[in-house]
Amino acid sequence: MSAEKRVYQVGEKIKALLSATALDREVILRAWVRNKRGNKHVAFISANDGSCLSGIQVVADVEKIGEDLLKEVTVGSAIWVKGQLVASAGKGQQVEVVAEEVRVLGGADAEKYPIQPKKHSLEFLREQAHLRVRTSTFGAVFRIRHAMSYAVHHFFNSKGFFNVHSPILTATDAEGAGEMFRVTNLNLKDLPRTDDGEIDYSQDFFGRPTNLTVSGQLEAELLALGLGEVYTFGPTFRAENSNTSRHLAEFWMIEPEMAFAELSDNIALAQEFLQYLVNYALDNCREDLAFLDQRLADEEKNKKKEEKSEMGLIEKLEFVANNDFKVLTYTEAIEILRNSKPNKKKQFNYLIDEWGADLQSEHERYLVEKHFKMPVVLKDYPKDIKAFYMRQNDDGKTVAAMDVLFPGIGEIIGGSQREERLDKLTRRMEEMDVSQEELWWFLETRKFGTVPHAGFGLGFERLMLFVTGMTNIRDVIPFPRFPDHAEF
Ligand code: 4AD
Ligand code: MG
Repeated sequence: MSAEKRVYQVGEKIKALLSATALDREVILRAWVRNKRGNKHVAFISANDGSCLSGIQVVADVEKIGEDLLKEVTVGSAIWVKGQLVASAGKGQQVEVVAEEVRVLGGADAEKYPIQPKKHSLEFLREQAHLRVRTSTFGAVFRIRHAMSYAVHHFFNSKGFFNVHSPILTATDAEGAGEMFRVTNLNLKDLPRTDDGEIDYSQDFFGRPTNLTVSGQLEAELLALGLGEVYTFGPTFRAENSNTSRHLAEFWMIEPEMAFAELSDNIALAQEFLQYLVNYALDNCREDLAFLDQRLADEEKNKKKEEKSEMGLIEKLEFVANNDFKVLTYTEAIEILRNSKPNKKKQFNYLIDEWGADLQSEHERYLVEKHFKMPVVLKDYPKDIKAFYMRQNDDGKTVAAMDVLFPGIGEIIGGSQREERLDKLTRRMEEMDVSQEELWWFLETRKFGTVPHAGFGLGFERLMLFVTGMTNIRDVIPFPRFPDHAEF
C-alpha cells in the first residue's frame, strides 16, 4: 500500500482524544466539519467523527495552514488533521488540536449542504435521511441503537439463551393478522392462472404463495423445543396501513422462547430484560442520554402544562430500571378503564363498555401514565382478540397472553405461554380457520415431546423510542419504511 493512501487510515477516534490523559503529543484525526469560525489569523474548526457526541476543536493558524486550503474546509467537508493535542485555553472544551497539517479529503459546497450548523426540525431531517446521522441528535440515537443491540445479545448470552436465525421468507402468517408483504418472482405483467382464474402460485419460485415474515416466533418455538432457550433478533415486516408514530412497515424484533416455562416465567424474563437494557443505556450511553434529556427538556418548554411530562428522560429511565412493573389481568384493567374519567366523559376515541374489547393505545397509555404511573403488564386476555397459538386458560374465555405497556409508548412487548396440548391447539386452529395442513410441522412438536413453553416479542424500535425519548418511531431507525416511503 502506498504511503499516501495509508495516511488516511491512521488516526485516533475523537472519543479517545477527548479522554486522553497524555497531552502535548502529535495526533491524527479524520472527521467531518460541523462548524467553522474565526478571523483572518486563526480558524476554529469543530470536527466530529461520529465516535461520540462531542466534537473536538481544531485550531488552525491561517498563515501556517494556508488561507486557500482553509477556504475548502467548509461545513460538511471531510478533513484529515495532523497536530498537537493540547489542553485548551478556551471555554467549553478540555483539549483541542493545534493543526500542523490539514488535508481536505472530501469537500462540500457549504451553501448547498442541507445540514447547517443550526437547529433543524425532525421532519426536515427525515427527508435528509442520507445525511441526518451527521447531526448531534441522530448521532446520539444511532449510537444508542448500537448499544442496545449489543446489550440484547449480551443479556441472552449471559443467561444461556442461543441466538437463532429464523427465516425472513415464509409461507406462514404467524400472527394471523394477514398484513403480509407478498414475495414473488412471477412476471406481474403476465401472471400464470389456474383453470378457475386464480393466480397459479405453483409456478412461483417456492411453488406456493410466499411472504416476508411478520414474526420469527413459530420457528423459534421449534428451536426452543430442542435447544431449550433461544432468541431471534431480526427484521419483521407488516403491511398494516398504520401511519402512526409507533408503527413501521419494517421493524426489528427480539423474540426469546423458553422451553419448560409458563406465563409467570415469561413476565419475569420480560421485566428483567427491559430493566437490563435500560440500565445498560444508563451505564454506557451517558453523554448521548444527557444530550437527549436536554433536548427533550427544551421541547417540553413549548408544551402546554397538561401535556408536559412529569419526569425528564434520565429520571424516567432510572424509575423504570428500579421499580417492579405492575401486573394485572385484562379483566381487572377493563374494570379500571370502564370506570375511568376519560371513559365516563367520553374522551376516549374508543369507549370501553364491554369485556372483550380490544385495547387501543389510548387505553394502554391511560393505565400506565395516569392510573398506575409505572410500567404495566396485562395478562390473560380474551382469546378472541389474540393469536391461535396462545395457551387456553381453564376459564374457557381467556388465554395466557401478556403485553408489557410502557409510558409514552403503549405496548412495547407482546407475548404468551404457548398452547402445548395438541387437541386444544388443533381445535383452536379450526375455530380460527388456521390451516393445519400448512402448519403440520408446528403441530408435530406437540406430538413429539411437547412441553409447556413461553416467549415474547420486543419491538426494538419501540424500545429505542423509550430509551431515547424520541417521539416518532421514524426517528429511531436509520431508514424508516412506512406507507409511501421506501427512499434511501
Ligand atoms: O405483539 P406482536 O404482534 O407479537 C408477535 O409478533 C409475537 N409473535 C411475539 C412473540 O410472542 N414471540 O409484536 C411484538 C412487538 C409489539 O409489542 C411491538 O413492540 C412491536 O413488536 N411491533 C411493532 N413495532 C413497530 N412497528 C410495528 N408495525 C409493530 N408491530 C408490532
Ligand atoms: Mg401485540
